[in-house]
Amino acid sequence: MSDKLFIFDTTLRDGEQSPGASMTKDEKVRIAKALERMRVDIIEAGFPIASPGDFEAVQAVARAIKDSTVCGLARALDKDVERAGEALKEANSARIHTFIATSPIHMKMKLRMEPDQVLAQAVKAVKKARHYTDNVEFSPEDAGRSELEFLCRVVEAAITAGARTINIPDTVGYNIPEYFGRLIQQLRERIPNADKAVFSVHCHNDLGLAVSNSLAAVLNGARQVECTINGLGERAGNAALEEIVMAVKTRKDVFPCSVDHLDTTQILHCSRLVSGITGFPVQPNKAIVGANAFAHESGIHQDGVLKNRETYEIMRAEDVGWSANRMVMGKHSGRNAFRTRLKELGIEFNSEAQLNEAFGRFKDLADKKHEIYDDDLQALVTEANLEAENEHIQLVALRVCSETGETPRARINMVIDNQEKTATADGGGPVDASFKAIESIVASGCQLLLYSVNNITTGTDAQGEVTVRLEKAGRIVNGQGADTDIVIASAKAYINALNKIGSRPPSANPQTGDV
Ligand code: KIV
Ligand code: ZN
Repeated sequence: MSDKLFIFDTTLRDGEQSPGASMTKDEKVRIAKALERMRVDIIEAGFPIASPGDFEAVQAVARAIKDSTVCGLARALDKDVERAGEALKEANSARIHTFIATSPIHMKMKLRMEPDQVLAQAVKAVKKARHYTDNVEFSPEDAGRSELEFLCRVVEAAITAGARTINIPDTVGYNIPEYFGRLIQQLRERIPNADKAVFSVHCHNDLGLAVSNSLAAVLNGARQVECTINGLGERAGNAALEEIVMAVKTRKDVFPCSVDHLDTTQILHCSRLVSGITGFPVQPNKAIVGANAFAHESGIHQDGVLKNRETYEIMRAEDVGWSANRMVMGKHSGRNAFRTRLKELGIEFNSEAQLNEAFGRFKDLADKKHEIYDDDLQALVTEANLEAENEHIQLVALRVCSETGETPRARINMVIDNQEKTATADGGGPVDASFKAIESIVASGCQLLLYSVNNITTGTDAQGEVTVRLEKAGRIVNGQGADTDIVIASAKAYINALNKIGSRPPSANPQTGDV
């Protein structure tokens, strides 16, 4: 059995299924590149049949990624498999992941199919997927609540049909580690051709056990774990990649397999990128990537760590990227240094014009902020990318008056489809006044679901990164904006969300939606 644990990241697919976490094509490519830098083995980029936008996003990721395998999800239906095959055509290494539910409740109530029909459809889909790639994964959805006997029959048939990875999902997060581990062991023992496939697990976190269940499966022979950055995913989310990876790396004495092929110093960057793009903040006490994960507040702990860090630290903060946020540049840094540092961060420009534009932003920022960190540079480039996307509304200027005892007032100047517009509005605070001024021009009819501010670095001159989540007719989008002035960052984020909501049709959920 392989001593390598394959890491299958599904942030771009299952992660995107969390309400409000939808990502644009460019955002998906940015996250995929960060995952590739971490040397994640497989990146599930989306569900190509869900919408033209999803198809294009999977296609764009397939074109951009060279070192990781790119995967597309397909229900066990011809049309889904064809669409996935088409979207992945240009991938260096492509995988099709096809699935059908096998639990009694899903077969009866959702699919309205007999078990034998389900088995036949699974086999047909796997065979069809093999026309596009040798790398086919099959998942019996809701395996965690399926009958063992039937599960064994379906999995054996899928392997015979050509599936080389068998993924066992605990779709509704119902399992308990000991039992889930035993399930993996039983499947591997009972299925005659089990040695022809890599066993994988995909655990949801409804009982807070996704990581524990996944690790129990690894101890029982699973050699692929499906997981997401920050544990993003449907409902309570999926197993968190950073926790799985660091558990296996830290407890080499326990796990019979390794993740040494991964560059774990990229973890924190990926976490921040995903959090910024989706607007899902990371709680301070979150393992590995939370702000307090390596902070030692109490006197006793600090004393111990200073004498010998291993008294209270089981991992090194720098191994997951905590010290990577170096102060790199300032006002006097030149264009070449700027380009070189961004290249080191994995960010390259398509043209000199793009580089010059980003460098102009850097100089503006350096005038306001003396020390520029890696995270500031990332935010600058994100801003440049945001503006490049579907920008029919642009912010020209914002003036805000806020005074003790007075009602805050904002005056906004925007260009909408090449026409300049101005409006003034009062509000409960400067941000509220700014949003009302924008709305008095666009009258979008959107509902504000979330407004959040994160400081990108520390200090009062830090850039604030604002996320705004808007909803209209069931469609939810996130907008981002960054600036040293958080009111301006807020207006940028609001306008970014408006630009997205006008241009993005909704896409279907592979497990519940009709496509
Ligand atoms: O949770 C689940 O069962 C899934 C499948 C599509 C693998 O996401
Ligand atoms: Zn899932």
